[in-house]
Order: sequence, then C-alpha cells, then structure tokens
Amino acid sequence: MPLLYTKNLRREFGGVIAVSDVNFEVMKNSITGLIGPNGAGKTTLFNNITGLDFPTKGNVFFKGEDITELPAYKITRIGIARTFQNIRLFREMTVFENVMIGRHFRGNHPKLSRNRLVNFALGMVNLKMEEKDIYENSIKWLDFFNLLPFRDEYAKNLPYGRQRELEIARALATEPDLLFLDEPAAGMNPQETEELMATIRKIRDLGVTVVLIEHDMKLVMNICDTITVLNYGQKIAEGTPGQIQNNKDVIEAYLGKSDD
Ligand SMILES: Nc1ncnc2c1ncn2[C@@H]1O[C@H](COP(=O)(O)OP(=O)(O)OP(=O)(O)O)[C@@H](O)[C@H]1O
Ligand SMILES: [Mg+2]
Repeated sequence: MPLLYTKNLRREFGGVIAVSDVNFEVMKNSITGLIGPNGAGKTTLFNNITGLDFPTKGNVFFKGEDITELPAYKITRIGIARTFQNIRLFREMTVFENVMIGRHFRGNHPKLSRNRLVNFALGMVNLKMEEKDIYENSIKWLDFFNLLPFRDEYAKNLPYGRQRELEIARALATEPDLLFLDEPAAGMNPQETEELMATIRKIRDLGVTVVLIEHDMKLVMNICDTITVLNYGQKIAEGTPGQIQNNKDVIEAYLGKSDD
C-alpha cells in the first residue's frame, strides 16, 4: 500500500477545475516527482493534501487513514511537512529561530508530550529539558544543511538558495515521515541545484519519503524514482523517468501539438 494516496481528488475554484479527479500515489521511501505545465494544478494538489485547502470531492489517505478533513497543524503532527513555492520564512527572525519554530509546530513528539505532563508537576526543570530537545534538534538540522555558521543571521539576509534550504530545514525539524517540496530549485543556480539534488537524496536516505514539484527536468529525471504528470488538472501519465520522457502525451503537454 502506498504511504500516501489520493482518491479521485477534485478541487474546483468557481468554474475552474484545478485538480480533476486525481489518483496520486506516493510509495514509502521513494522520491516522487509531480510535474506539469504552469497552472496544471500541482500546488493545488499539494495544498489539498497538506490541509491548507480542501477538496471539492475525493479523499486523501496517509498510512491507511483518511486525513482529508485535517487542518494543516494536524497534518504536521501526523508526520507530513512541506515547503512553499514562494518562500515563507520569518524574515525578521534569525536562521536558528526559524528552525526552532519548525520544531515547536510538531507538538506531539512523544518525548515532548511526556515532558509537558511532567512539567505540570515539576515545573521549570523539565521545561528546560523540552527547550534542550528543541535546541538540539534545531542544531542538528542546521548542521545537516551547513547553515550553522549563519545561525544568528536574519533569514532575509541569506542568499536566495540558502533561504530555500532553511525552509527545508524548518520542515524537517518537525521530524516528518513525508516531505513535500514545491519547486525547491526555483531561483537556484546550477551549482546550488546540483547540491540540492544530493541533499534530497540524503533526506530520503534518512528515511523521509519525498515528493517534489519541479520544473527543472534535469533534477526531476535524475533523482525521482517515479513521476506523475498533471495537465489542466488531470493526471496524464505516471511512471519512471524513462517512461515519462518517452510518453507521447507528456511531450505534447509540454511542447504543444505539432499541428497547433
Ligand atoms: N485560490 C484559488 N482561487 C482560484 N483559482 C485558483 C486558486 N488556486 C489556484 N487556482 C487556479 O487553479 C489552477 C491550478 O493552479 P496551481 O497553482 O495549482 O498550478 P501549478 O501547477 O502549481 O502551476 P505553477 O507551475 O505555475 O506553479 C490555475 O488555473 C489557477 O489559476
Ligand atoms: Mg505551483
């Protein structure tokens, strides 16, 4: 069974069918690509899975449970994290603070909840433990992205590519099982993109399943195990990078029909 799947997921905005009855599957421990031309419905599908928006019809299942109605903060708690097409950092906060906030969002970490209860009885001692846990977790993810030297810098002062990495660090600080990345390489130079590919593989090797929307075909074809293609809200293909590259409908969607 897939780790996550949607069943006939549909999202209409007025007359626009942004996502049209899509069955989308994500296998555990895979890197799954979601591609398609501008306006194909990729971000809308992400939003409907991660509780930022809700389907007109259809369902989302994660680890076998129907999570369609869950709001974003609950989605985070059950182990799904994401980044955004337009970077959403706390620009006036430091790099370190941005990651610590990510950890706070994941309220139900077993150790943390236990600490909360004990805090009730024992007060500050355990509160410090909880803070220590958040502190150490944040350091771990900053280190993973080589962002430790910038920990006290304002997020807004980081170069664009590093801001994208910081956003991924913040998402990972919630310790998700499943990570959604909406155009992680957007605005990155070729060298940064190259490094990002290695990083995404490393994230997967840590046991985090990754789904990414990306227009950089080199990145997608290089790192994805499987790719789903949307066009005008509809799923037009899914398969391995090799299958997708040779798929007639996909080529048409991207290049337009030769007789147009
Ligand atoms: N909140 C909204 N209200 C109305 N229409 C919307 C809304 N969000 C998305 N749409 C429409 O839904 C369609 C799909 O948009 P979406 O942002 O999901 O595409 P996308 O595949 O992510 O495109 P891009 O590659 O440009 O990011 C578009 O026609 C868009 O205008
Ligand atoms: Mg989008």
